[in-house]
Amino acid sequence: MQIKNICCIGAGYVGGPTMAVIALKCPHINVTVVDANPDKIKAWNGPLDKLPIYEPGLAEVVGEARGRNLFFSDDIPNNIEKAEMIFMAVNTPTKTEGEGAGMAADLRYVETCARDIAKYSKSDKIVIEKSTLPVRTAEKIKEILEENSTDIHFEILSNPEFLAEGTAIQDLFKSDRVLIGGDETQSGQKAVQALVDIYSNWIPKEKILTTNVWSSELAKLASNAMLAQRISSINSLSALCEKTGANIDELSKAIGMDHRIGPHFLKASVGFGGSCFQKDILNLVYLCKHYGLDEVAEYWHQVVKINDYQKDRFAQKIIDHFGGDLKNKKILILGWAFKANTNDIRESPAIDVSKKLYKNGANLEIYDPIVEQNKIYKVLKSWEKFKNDIIIKQNQSSEIEFYDAIVLLTEWEVFKSYNYQSNIIFDGRYFLRKIYE
Ligand code: NAD
Ligand code: UGA
Repeated sequence: MQIKNICCIGAGYVGGPTMAVIALKCPHINVTVVDANPDKIKAWNGPLDKLPIYEPGLAEVVGEARGRNLFFSDDIPNNIEKAEMIFMAVNTPTKTEGEGAGMAADLRYVETCARDIAKYSKSDKIVIEKSTLPVRTAEKIKEILEENSTDIHFEILSNPEFLAEGTAIQDLFKSDRVLIGGDETQSGQKAVQALVDIYSNWIPKEKILTTNVWSSELAKLASNAMLAQRISSINSLSALCEKTGANIDELSKAIGMDHRIGPHFLKASVGFGGSCFQKDILNLVYLCKHYGLDEVAEYWHQVVKINDYQKDRFAQKIIDHFGGDLKNKKILILGWAFKANTNDIRESPAIDVSKKLYKNGANLEIYDPIVEQNKIYKVLKSWEKFKNDIIIKQNQSSEIEFYDAIVLLTEWEVFKSYNYQSNIIFDGRYFLRKIYE
């Protein structure tokens, strides 16, 4: 099957970069990204230095493909109708109310997509789950599509995304693997092949893995859980290091040199952040409970609990350093993004740590080189008893004036060059340690 038009619903951190790369690598296919938020679409169509997402290399890719075969539009009905292949890349946050609140994935955005696809389609479509979804969601999507349409065949594939923010473009250019799950029927396999053909334009064939739909859906949740589990494991050991005089960096190195373990995701930190690790593990925990696997659920839940413990432990260490009271202590928070090279602040440890310091009376100033000030302010405003008394700095010179403490929460490269001589530093990313030890 020759695909000529792709539509992607959701122009966020996944939809934008993935579609930009597909368009770049497949100039023979028209790729249109649609979104329910017209301001976001306007920004995707605006100046390249003001795209809604900060991601190294993204502006160059968008600059090359936009207007050629990459388009951003708020016309959802027409673009659904026109496409033979539709990606769903909408958000799947943790549910905040109803059954499974605080654990299960909120599927309302995916369900709206499915209803829209059924409503506006006049011909057969391949519908692709790009969002991260609980295993067996495809069943539910199929139900919605079939209930809301007549005489149209929808083939559902799972094609989860494994990019990490900050390295998204490189990850998309050179994926470790592309995973495609499809039905084992003839039409299912035909649809799988159509998607394999697209990725084959730049991904070596041996890196394209095809499975059944359920394996693909679950492999995504499991991959994130395994990555996060390594971080929680090393973070739990950092607590023991502090008690015993062992050095966590030396420990990471020694453990990671075993080729069976490997060095990645063994960097101790203030805790993992980002929109996905926590939500995906909680979703996994919920699924295990749903299937009566309580011991398995508890095993994975511990990964999130250790992460919360680590964030809290880090903030408490600062409070304890000052004898339990931060009144009149001037503290500079360096970094608000959940990791370097992104403007994404979702679940950033900087938020939890700063909130605890503020609650304990600290006089805070915050600086992040990329995160927009209004985004930081929006978070602060949501805090109970926030008195508008935190300074969000627009610039920070490398000569750091006297603060009672500097708290480093994002590993921005620029922070390495600062002159910290007269300050007490709490390094939540452990990345200055080598310079100052
Ligand atoms: P996001 O919040 O950045 O983007 C989602 C977009 O979908 C938003 O712009 C929203 O306006 C739009 N949207 C929601 N419902 C819509 C609808 N019915 N019609 C049209 N537009 C709609 O989310 P994201 O970070 O891109 O994540 C998307 C999915 O990909 C999630 O399931 C996430 O778990 C998964 N994922 C994310 C990453 C990542 O690095 N952010 C990596 C891999 C997988
Ligand atoms: C993560 C996964 O790495 C991606 O494969 C996945 O596609 C994505 O989640 C997703 O599903 O959303 P991301 O959250 O963007 O990507 O970034 P990571 O590099 O995984 O970092 C996550 C958090 O863990 C960051 O706060 C980072 O600072 C922290 N981290 C990472 C550590 O504390 N130690 C490490 O050794 C590695």
